Amino acid sequence: MTTDEPGDASATALRLGLAETLAASGDLRTARWRSAVETVPRETFIPGFFERLDDLRETMWRPITPELVGAQERLTLTYTDETWVTQLNHSVTAFDTDVPIPGVPTSSSTLPGLVVRMLEDLQVNDNSRVLEIGTGTGYSTGLMSARLGPELITSVEVDPAVASRAGQSLHEAGYAPRLIIGDGILGHPPGAPYDRVIATCAVRHIPSAWVAQTRPGGLILTTMLGWLGASSGLVRLEVTGDGTAEGRFLGGTDSFMPARPHAAPPLTDNICDWIEAVETAERTTVAGPEILDPWDGWTSLFIAQLAVPDAQLLSYALDDGPLLDHIIDAGQRAVAIVDRLPGRSAAVRQAGPVNLWDKVEVAIEEWWSAGSPSLDQFRVSVSPESQTVWFGDPTGALSWNLPTTT
Ligand SMILES: C[S@@+](CC[C@H](N)C(=O)[O-])C[C@H]1O[C@@H](n2cnc3c(N)ncnc32)[C@H](O)[C@@H]1O
Repeated sequence: MTTDEPGDASATALRLGLAETLAASGDLRTARWRSAVETVPRETFIPGFFERLDDLRETMWRPITPELVGAQERLTLTYTDETWVTQLNHSVTAFDTDVPIPGVPTSSSTLPGLVVRMLEDLQVNDNSRVLEIGTGTGYSTGLMSARLGPELITSVEVDPAVASRAGQSLHEAGYAPRLIIGDGILGHPPGAPYDRVIATCAVRHIPSAWVAQTRPGGLILTTMLGWLGASSGLVRLEVTGDGTAEGRFLGGTDSFMPARPHAAPPLTDNICDWIEAVETAERTTVAGPEILDPWDGWTSLFIAQLAVPDAQLLSYALDDGPLLDHIIDAGQRAVAIVDRLPGRSAAVRQAGPVNLWDKVEVAIEEWWSAGSPSLDQFRVSVSPESQTVWFGDPTGALSWNLPTTT
């Protein structure tokens, strides 16, 4: 079903063009998913959205609606292979402002290339019952409804306003999957067992409800994110029964916004004042700032994050001082302050009951001695007792337990 708005004919042409682009990039690999991309009107799911504008000081978000930029430009942008942010700060939409504004993205229509790659990696068959976590705009829910039939799809969205807009869009596009407003970390037991679980928000560990609600042999596909900010890219696990699952990272640097209960807690002024007053001896460190730079590849930061799973990373310079990386475990009141010295070395100061940077250094040195394997060579094992990320040997030097409380 298509929309009635001006430029409707070109919407069809743009949709076919997007499918062609995604097929050429290798993200769209099979005829059935291609047909879904060619059918589902993305413009129905994102009537308005924000374009990211970066300048040196801050990121601003420019509203894109038919009224502000014209129907044709909005339509053309809709069919580019871009993530379009649809909500800022848990409530603001593009229809709430005429001018660019600052804000933190809290809902979006994910990059179509990533959406279809995930759908391909989900390895569905015609009868797969799917649980989706993070309905967002409903576009990916629409694609799955087109491919599998809406009666096989259950999608959970935590934000009631976002869920309500997705429901309207899906209705307008002609699909009626089961839509649930709630915390997707808990899955949706009445629809279980599922053959597939797919999450378009990132988790710190695999929620036990997803494992329990997936039939043995079923698959869970998600990204994992930690509080230092490193994403795992996609990880796919096969559920093996009795609360267990096993899988591997699929590679890539894809990341999603954190699932709400898995996001890092805000740092209080109290802890920030304490950190600024920290005065301890400085020492040099072999694990320099390149470990913390995610643009050098996620793996080193992901390893650091596994070593100090409750720590957060804040990088800033005070006044005209140097850029300092602060590794902060607020719960334990511990901090490591890493000062990037000229060249590729660094100095560190640590305070609190645990030496956070010592833990990071040990983990990084183990990783270096194993030849710095990339994250797609690591595996994840889930049992009711623990969850482990490991390389080589699940109990070896390169294995870490994930925090399983949020
Ligand atoms: C990247 S967007 C989803 C993109 C969506 N699949 C699409 O195609 O438009 C992530 C969504 O996950 C939702 N979310 C975050 N935490 C959640 C949770 N615990 N349960 C369900 N949804 C959650 C957010 O509100 C947001 O709408």
